[in-house]
This record gives sequence, C-alpha cells and structure tokens, in this order.
Amino acid sequence: MPTNATPNSAADRRRILITSALPYANGSIHLGHLLEHIQTDIWARFQRMRGHECYSVCADDAHGTPVMLKAQELGITPEQMVEQTRKEHHQDLLDFHVEYDNYYVTHSEENKQLCEEVYNRLHANGYISTKTISQLFDPEKQMFLPDRFVRGTCPNCGAEDQYGDSCDVCSATYSPTELKNPRSAVSGATPVLKDSEHYFFDLPQFEGMLKSWLRSGAVQNEMANKLEEWFEQGLQQWDISRDAPYFGFEIPNAPNKFFYVWVDAPVGYMASFLNLCNQVGLNFDDFWQEQSNTELYHFIGKDITYFHCLFWPAMLEGAGYRKPTGVNVHGFVTVNGAKMSKSRGTFIKGRTYLDHLNPEYLRYYFASKLNDSVTDIDLNFEDFAQKVNADLVNKVVNIASRCAGFITKRFDGQLSGQCANEDLLAAFTSASESIAQLYESRQYNKAIREIMALADRANQYIDAAAPWVTIKDESKQTETHDVCSLGINCFRILVTYLKPVMPKLAEQAEAFLNDTLTWDSAQQPLYNHAINKFKPMMQRIEMDKINAMIEDSKETINAEAPAKQAERTTDPIAETISFDEFAKVDLRVAKIVNAEHVEGADKLLCLTLDIGDEQRQVFAGIKSAYAPETLVGKHTVMVANLAPRKMRFGMSEGMVLAAGPGGKDLYILEPHEGATAGMRVK
Ligand code: MSP
Ligand code: ZN
Repeated sequence: MPTNATPNSAADRRRILITSALPYANGSIHLGHLLEHIQTDIWARFQRMRGHECYSVCADDAHGTPVMLKAQELGITPEQMVEQTRKEHHQDLLDFHVEYDNYYVTHSEENKQLCEEVYNRLHANGYISTKTISQLFDPEKQMFLPDRFVRGTCPNCGAEDQYGDSCDVCSATYSPTELKNPRSAVSGATPVLKDSEHYFFDLPQFEGMLKSWLRSGAVQNEMANKLEEWFEQGLQQWDISRDAPYFGFEIPNAPNKFFYVWVDAPVGYMASFLNLCNQVGLNFDDFWQEQSNTELYHFIGKDITYFHCLFWPAMLEGAGYRKPTGVNVHGFVTVNGAKMSKSRGTFIKGRTYLDHLNPEYLRYYFASKLNDSVTDIDLNFEDFAQKVNADLVNKVVNIASRCAGFITKRFDGQLSGQCANEDLLAAFTSASESIAQLYESRQYNKAIREIMALADRANQYIDAAAPWVTIKDESKQTETHDVCSLGINCFRILVTYLKPVMPKLAEQAEAFLNDTLTWDSAQQPLYNHAINKFKPMMQRIEMDKINAMIEDSKETINAEAPAKQAERTTDPIAETISFDEFAKVDLRVAKIVNAEHVEGADKLLCLTLDIGDEQRQVFAGIKSAYAPETLVGKHTVMVANLAPRKMRFGMSEGMVLAAGPGGKDLYILEPHEGATAGMRVK
C-alpha cells in the first residue's frame, strides 16, 4: 500500500516505475514535450528524495509511416534517422536536467521480443482475429495510405486540399474514400481501393475490466468521465496491422504484416525498462507480472488518452501483465494564450530555448502552473520573466545573499549555535509533510505557492531584524549572527523543498552550504556549521533574451504567415523615422545568381545574391509567387546591412524587397535596366 511519509522501514519503501510518452522520432523536442518531461522528472526526483525505489524510463518512438517517409526524404535509412534523433532528443532532455534511468528507442531487439510475446499471448488467449478490408492505395508508391496522407476536396463543403479524415474549413469528419478528387500526399497519384487482410484486437471483450479500472482511481475523474463517452459509442475491434512497406516489426506468422506503431510504442515502455534491468541487474517481472506489488505510472498528454486508457490496459490484461497504477494526463502548452505557432515564433524547440535561457527557469515556471488536472498550461512570457525574477531571484536566492556576506566577513564563515526565532523555524520545518503531499498528488502549483509563502516570511523576518543595521552595534553581534544564521537555515530548507524542481540550484546551494540536502535533513537546522563564500546563483531574466529566442523560432522572415504579414505592412508605415535612421539602411542592387527550393519549407526560396564585392545567401518568402528558375539572372534590391539571422535552414544574410499582399501576388522589386550588382540604392 502506498504511503507518503519518508520510509523508515523497508516495508514503507515503495517500488515505483514511471514513464513519459515516447516522443516521435521525426521531429524535435519542443516546449510542449518539455512540460511532460519536466512534470515526470519532478515527480521522479521527489520520490527518490523521499527514499523510495523509483525508476523512470522513456524512449524515442521510432516506427510508422511518417518516420519512414521522412527518412526517405532525407535519403537515409530509418534506422540511421532514428538513432540520430534519439541522441538529439536525449541530449535536449539532459540539458533540461530531465534524467531518465534509461532513454531507449522502440526499434530495439528487446521491444521486438516483447511485442511478439504480448501478441502471441493475446493470440493464444483468443483476442486476435482477421478480416479483409478495403483501403486507399498509392499505385505509384505501392503503399497503403494512412488518412493523413490522402488529400482532396471536402465531401461536405467542397473546400480543396483537405486531409483524408477531416476538413479544416467546415470541421466535417469522414473516411478518406469519401473525399472528392483524392490524391496521395506522397506521390500525387490518384489512389485506388485495394483489399488486404488486417489483424484485429478484440477490445470490446475488455469493457467490464476497463470500466472498473477507470474508476479505481487510476485516472483523473474528468478523464474517466470523458472515457465514458467512448463506452457509450461502443468499443470497436482495433486494427493492429499495417501492410508492407512499413517501418516496424513484422507480426509473427503473418509475412509482410507489421504491428501498427501504437502497438509497439507502449510495449516500448516495457522494453526500455527491460534494457535497464539488463544493465543494472533489476528483476523485470517484479514490475510487470500480473500480481505485482510495485507501482507503475504513465505521464501523458490528453491527446493520447485513448491509447493509454483503453487499448493499453486491455492489451496488458489480455496478455497477463499488470495494469498501470495510474495514467496521469496533462493538458497542452499554449504560448501567450494561443496554440504554439511557427509563424509567431512561439513553436519553440527545446534547443532554441537552451540557446538563450536557463533551463531551470522553465522548470520552475511549469512547476508553478502544473496541477493534477487536464487543463492547458499557458506560458506567458511576461508572466514567466516576472515570476522567475520575483520568486527565484528576489525572494529565494536573495535570502542567502542578504545573510551570507555577514557570516563570511564577520563571523568567520560559521553559523551560530542557536535559533533566533523558534516560531519561524517551526513554520519552515513543519511545512514538510504538506508540501510533500502536494508533490505526491501532482499539485506542484500549490507546493510552489506554499514554498514562496515561506520565502516571504523569511524575507519579512530579515527586513524587520535589519542585520545591516545591527551589525554596526557592538552590543548586538550575537543577535546579528543568530539572525543571519537563521536566514541561511531558512534558505536551506526552501532549496530542499525546491530540489525536485531545481536540481542545479540545489547543487549550487549545497556547495555554498557545505551540505547535502535531503527531504529529512531539512528537519535539523545547521548549527555551528561552516559555510562557503556565497556566489551568485541565478540571473534575472531580461526580456531581450526572450525576444531573441522568439526571433530564432520564426521560420521565415516575412513568409509562412500571410496574416502576420498583413499586420506588419500596415503598422510600421504609420510611424515616421528620421533621415538618419533611414540613412542607416544599406540598400543595394543584387543579381540573383542562384535560386533553390528549401527542403521542408513551405514558403521559402534560398537565393544567392551577388552584390558586386561579395555573395550573400538569403532566404526569401516568395515561393508562392516565383519558380526558382525564373529568378536566376534577374536583378533585385536587397537590404545588405541587416544583421544575419540564423534560421532553421541556415543563415540568412539580408533581405530582398518585394511588394504585394502575398501569395501569388508578390513582386520582387527590379531596378531599371542599367543598374548593376553592388550599386547603392539611394
Ligand atoms: N509517440 C507518441 C506517444 C507514444 S507513447 C507510447 C506521441 N508522440 S508525440 O511526440 O506526438 O507526443 C509526445 C508527448 O508530448 C505526448 O504525451 C503529447 O501529449 C505531448 N505533447 C505534444 N505536444 C504538446 C503540447 N503542445 N503540450 C503538452 N504536451 C504535448 O504522441
Ligand atoms: Zn469541409
């Protein structure tokens, strides 16, 4: 039975396995993913601090059609791409101090074996059947097309270029065979209907088990209610096979049939753990056998609840494994109140964030907002900067910096031997269990609020005691020493409570305090203890760092976002600039010596511009209006002294001038005949 108190006997020591959803191997880690990894990591660190035996595992989700096609596009094997991405993802996470005991990949021998084992057991227990179904097939690529890879005209409203499963314009949902004028998004060919035998998992058999599992406290009530709706619609047979070509594992005794990626992905949790077991000598069965006394938690986003709360527990039950103790569902990250957007620069990759800001700021901010519900979490940059500066810099670290100097300079670096204010100290130590309870129940926001309320009390105490005044009074040396020592002890307890959220701050504090911070040791203050010289631990966030990060996240200078472009052409024109400001702009005649498509960019062309004495590479958002070959040889006008910008596709060293509302109506400026490359435009 789980207990929350720090274990004082082996019997109280919980054995816990935690997972985060496995990121797809065809994209970068972004701030949305990080919410989940940070939520998981805080919980894992908290459990370890409480003395429990806790493992956390994750992996890259390697299989499926999008990964296969992306690798083809890049001209590498899917294995190569997946290994590259796995390394990159893992490093991104480590740099946010997210530390899994194992970060593996679903394309592994362990996973293949476990998938076969699970499947063979399901098959033997009578949960697998086959049926021939008819699906759209790309005759050119010789492959069946997932819904997302079919495009055509909406059968409901007639909007063109819609996905095979739903319409962006009228929101209708339909099957890809209902689309008018369907095309394969892979080759452009017209798909044909083709029959194929598929394998199905008998989900409806598990309805009773799922209903009681969902009400056992394993998922949040709001999620259990939502899942009720799915029961009302009736559970369906689940199609678990895909035809070759497919990057995945072949189904035993079913040549050319592969497991659908959502079969082997959750089994990937087991496989990552098995790989860990083999490295460190743990017993796999202890954590996965049907009657297990260990705990298993999955942290996931709300979009993948169906897979984790219906298919996955049913697969586990059907194959004779234990079911999750809990599936903890979180909401989505929005930025400045809106969905993350590439054109607004708010679709921010973990790596771009790290180029500009301290990862602990984000850990702290997410913690201050995370709770046990499924509501979305908004990252508002002004609030972010304000909160980090006010809470961490001005409140927490400030306590140490206010007191440390006196201890070092006047009291030989030694804390005093007595407590200046027992009430204050008791308020700090006695908060331990309620803060622990808040971490345990994933109400990190409330834990942070409680910790900051304590920080406020410590600061008020120091304000009132004013050691910077009393230090000047010879008769008040002991009092000053005691006050500053209590300040340091308060700081020590605060950082202990924050340690699951801010492991690096805790490390710096440990070096300063000459101490190791554990949940229990917070109960015993440091008396007659030598501390080290205080060094600054945390810098204020400046808005310009945030703005630079947003700039770096914008995929294009003036493309990708027609709406944004329209906004931009109206605003600045209204504002006058001085002649001097205008004179700073270095406009030059440039000859377009080369123009190319940019892989992965919808709106950009990569131009090579000759400005007489040098050549520049510029990414211009004019693809909608020009085929690259029609541009080569033309002259245009460029801003030659614009600061170079790092873009996703490379450096852009300037900007070309173009007129028009956008789309096809976009015209690059061409100087009159006679103007040659390099001439200044005045
Ligand atoms: N590969 C599957 C998961 C398989 S788990 C057996 C997948 N991958 S994902 O990369 O699309 O998403 C990984 C996790 O990140 C999911 O839990 C998803 O909900 C979460 N998030 C992705 N974008 C998110 C936000 N914008 N905000 C919060 N979480 C988000 O799904
Ligand atoms: Zn429509």
